[in-house]
Amino acid sequence: MSKYQNTLSFAQEKDKNDPLRKWREAFHFPTFHQKPVIYFTGNSLGLQPKRTKDYINLELDEWAKWGVEGHFDAKNPWFSYHELLTEKAAKVVGATKKEVVITHSLTTNLHLLMVSFYRPQGKRIKILCEGKAFPSDQYALQSQAKLHGLTPEEAIVEIFPREGEHLIRNEDIISKIYELGDELAVVMFGGLNYYTGQLFDMQAITEAGHKVGAKVGFDLAHAAGNVELKLHDWNVDFAAWCTYKYMNSSPGGVAGLFVHENHVSNEELLRLAGWWGHDKERRFLMEPQFKPIHSAESWQLSNAPVLGMAAHLASLDIFDEVGMSAISKKREDLTAYLEFVINEVSNSSAHTNFEIITPKNPKERGSQLSILAHGQGKPLFDILTKEGVIADWREPNVIRIAPVPLYNSYEDCYRFGEILKKAID
Ligand SMILES: Cc1ncc(COP(=O)(O)O)c(C=O)c1O
Repeated sequence: MSKYQNTLSFAQEKDKNDPLRKWREAFHFPTFHQKPVIYFTGNSLGLQPKRTKDYINLELDEWAKWGVEGHFDAKNPWFSYHELLTEKAAKVVGATKKEVVITHSLTTNLHLLMVSFYRPQGKRIKILCEGKAFPSDQYALQSQAKLHGLTPEEAIVEIFPREGEHLIRNEDIISKIYELGDELAVVMFGGLNYYTGQLFDMQAITEAGHKVGAKVGFDLAHAAGNVELKLHDWNVDFAAWCTYKYMNSSPGGVAGLFVHENHVSNEELLRLAGWWGHDKERRFLMEPQFKPIHSAESWQLSNAPVLGMAAHLASLDIFDEVGMSAISKKREDLTAYLEFVINEVSNSSAHTNFEIITPKNPKERGSQLSILAHGQGKPLFDILTKEGVIADWREPNVIRIAPVPLYNSYEDCYRFGEILKKAID
């Protein structure tokens, strides 16, 4: 007997008892043909917090008031603006203040980190990544191999699900790491796969990678702000994430970068350098010799884009107030409820042609459910869109939906089920 029911009254009762329910009001919801939508695409672009405008307007006003003097005299001086975000971002990913900096964009950060941590030497030249990694990661890794005079075929090892399966087994990842052994230079995995929604066991992968002498890093685009992370405790060497998905920090907004404390003071570690990574006390002495700050800040190249940072700060303040553990608690339950509703619809229909490929175990997934729509995915997706469901389609045949704990409700999940029923019938 399930603890859930596929009824409006059950969903509304769940909403009434939801400790995070007030946060829905803190976001702007788009409309579709003047009607409210069911917004299930926080895994692609998070909604705008209503407070974001004030945070950005404040910096616009300060810019108008101070001009260049705002670098030091603005209410939040721009010289050190990024520091306002560090501790809050570090909490979201389970890191110390020294290990995190908000800077650049995701793919840029992946490149900067690979430059530091992918140092192929002798036979240790391999990069292990998940098959069907997000294309930007594939291109980044291919070009990193070329940067060292290697072909992608020589350097990159992809690991895929077994024949007939959709998910990569953790045991297969670990045994591949041991099999590669002293040929493995870096493991660079998505923490949570963008296509299937599978959350990987980052702690076990890191441990195994270190046992064979490799460095281990993660692309956390789909994990940051979605699942609880403990990058420091897991001993992850490096990580990068964007902030425009679960962290609601504006389209293409500033990204996050993590380097473990074990490495931040190592001046021998190659960093592509810029003046914003240089010793803060000496930055304006305009010396020719680069002296890296002993923190993740030393990976910063340029002075901070304050307007984008302001949008991220607005969102981080919400995360700080709510906390990742409350977000995770609701996320597990909300996603499980949506899964239940979809399965109910599927079981009651004679025309079912879809299957959820995301892991069933809540510990192996985040918010996202990926629906594999055998053969008819696009028409089904198009009907959902017409009915006001903002979901997302990924080639070749997956509909991705993500109920986001900060602004989605149980009623959204119930209403989605009703629309899905209509669509498949
Ligand atoms: C897993 C993953 N990696 C990388 C990217 C690329 O991000 P950006 O364009 O911010 O560099 C994305 C974008 O959606 C992504 O989902």
